[in-house]
Amino acid sequence: MAERVEIFEVGPRDGLQNEKRLIPAAGKIALVDALSRAGFRRIEVTSFVSPKWVPQMADATEVMAGIARRPTVRYAALAPNLKGFDAAVAAGVDEVAIFAAASEAFSQANINASIAESLARFAPVVAAAQAIAMPVRGYVSCVVACPYEGDIAPEAVVRVAEALNVMGCYEISLGDTIGAGRPESVARMLAAVAQAVPVARLAGHFHDTGGWALANIDAALDQGVRVFDAAVGGLGGCPYAPGAPGNVATEAVARHLAQRGFETGLDMAALDRAVALAKGLRDGNA
Ligand code: HMG
Ligand code: MG
Repeated sequence: MAERVEIFEVGPRDGLQNEKRLIPAAGKIALVDALSRAGFRRIEVTSFVSPKWVPQMADATEVMAGIARRPTVRYAALAPNLKGFDAAVAAGVDEVAIFAAASEAFSQANINASIAESLARFAPVVAAAQAIAMPVRGYVSCVVACPYEGDIAPEAVVRVAEALNVMGCYEISLGDTIGAGRPESVARMLAAVAQAVPVARLAGHFHDTGGWALANIDAALDQGVRVFDAAVGGLGGCPYAPGAPGNVATEAVARHLAQRGFETGLDMAALDRAVALAKGLRDGNA
């Protein structure tokens, strides 16, 4: 039987958060529902963050309330602090994600906190989630390079990934936020992180600058990573990472994995319908 690789769909959050045009909640709901039909086990729906920082996610509660939930799908959302966590729980999310960075400058720009301050702020979120048995995922951004600081040493990634793991995140997603990674740098970084966090708890999160994302996924597969974040239609970037290109497209990852003989469990026809919807939302004609 083919080995399983999971694609964690982040398009409705990591993709749409970066769109300049305010997309109506109904469009976001339709996209999440289309993704639910495509067979994902986890979908990141939205963010419970400050609407002043990311206006596109201000309708998080409305979107969560509108989706047609499938029992086979876990619906996730970002929660940077207890305020976001409480709102996420009230809205009925199944899991939350906290998001740190391996770069001090990016951490300041993204969440107005140093790395140490951010970890201190996440600890009560994880404790509150654990108290209600809610899974918490952790992100590390800028795992290869930062838009402000340039190259990031693998050791900086190790420190943050390890802290999130010790704190209790069930999985740590390693984000090449600006798509600076190449197979060699990704392999080097992953080899270092895997010394501190079991590879079964790591996910790869690649952006497709210059078309390197699939090669970077291959490098991560070689290191034993079996979960990859991707955004339907290649939506997105990051509002606090100038020049960040879109996330690697889910449909490209799914086809690449199938060609390599891995099983993703996705219904490609249903996924293609979600891709069309995502592109319509992005281009303003859906
Ligand atoms: P701050 O301004 O330092 O926060 O922002 P504060 O605690 O001083 O509060 C300021 C105001 O925000 C207050 O409102 C709070 O109530 C409100 P006011 O009294 O001024 O009216 N506030 C909130 N409102 C709603 N929900 C909340 C919340 N918290 C405070 N949760 C903060 C700090 C973290 C809140 C802010 O910087 C923020 O929201 N940042 C989010 C940025 C973001 O979402 N970035 C994108 C996600 S990261 C990413 O894309 C990378 C990733 O995808 C990986 C990759 O691609 O590599 C993960
Ligand atoms: Mg991303």
